[in-house]
Amino acid sequence: MIRSAIVPVAGHGTRLLPATKSQPKEMLPVARKPIVQYVVEELVANGIEEILFVTGRNKASIENHFDSDPELTRVLHAGNKKDLLAELEFEELEAHFFYTRQRFQRGLGDAVLCGQNFAGEQPVLVALGDSILGLHAQSKAVSRMAKLFEDKRASCIIAVEEVPWEDVHHYGIMDVIPSDGDSLRVTRIIEKPSREEAPSNLAVAGRYIFSPLIFDMISRVKPDKRNEIQLTDAIQMLCEEGKRVLAMKLEPDERRYDIGNFPSYFETFVEFALADPQYGCEFRVSLEKLLAKGK
Ligand code: UTP
Repeated sequence: MIRSAIVPVAGHGTRLLPATKSQPKEMLPVARKPIVQYVVEELVANGIEEILFVTGRNKASIENHFDSDPELTRVLHAGNKKDLLAELEFEELEAHFFYTRQRFQRGLGDAVLCGQNFAGEQPVLVALGDSILGLHAQSKAVSRMAKLFEDKRASCIIAVEEVPWEDVHHYGIMDVIPSDGDSLRVTRIIEKPSREEAPSNLAVAGRYIFSPLIFDMISRVKPDKRNEIQLTDAIQMLCEEGKRVLAMKLEPDERRYDIGNFPSYFETFVEFALADPQYGCEFRVSLEKLLAKGK
């Protein structure tokens, strides 16, 4: 079983400015909850017990969100606001939270390296703090990845999904050959290729499991043109050294919602709001009226 996860949340989130000027993009709401709460709930539902957030400046609200707030609880109790108290039940999640800082935002690879001591000699999950899997984050992909990691004695398992060919330049893209069972063997991974360069349309989907080998690889990665240490380069090194790097496709209902840019953030918010058990129907009516006006 994989018990520990590193959740990098230290990025600047520049594509979401000005919303992210003084608050982390991982704390932006999608319908009722901040994005990172969906991520944490998904991890806990998949048996993760220890979560390390790799944070940076302006990220204190993430720590506050997962801490209890006795004053707020007291006020809600005094007002007998049982329904609102129920909304704070996530504070009791069965997980231990740890925090460390990435002092300079030098890329995802560097952020993951900040979790080396936390992971120790054990395999570790890396879950991007800005990516939700599945509507309401009920995905069990992480459990399937963990099983695959153990069954296949892999060095790395990457969750992947097919993206439209015209979008491959936004993602880490895999070159794969069939493997037995549910997985594909990754022979090469390319960060943000052009459509012509892309060997497939299978994109990294924000969840990875790594053996501790990954940390040696990241330490050897040279910074790119933007002075960032790319996690993809470290995975490519694993492939070049003949280590078993496998890709596992997400199920159709486990779509990855990447919140890192406005079009995808807007779409995700609307989809989750429409699925809200209390206000979804009402919102659908307003949205249909709005859309009809625009015709
Ligand atoms: P992104 O690749 O979306 O980068 O990060 P970013 O810096 O947050 O966003 P832009 O490009 O400026 O808009 C994917 C995940 O990796 C984390 C981010 O917080 C996000 O959850 N990350 C990225 C780090 O923790 N540190 C980094 O140096 C870069």
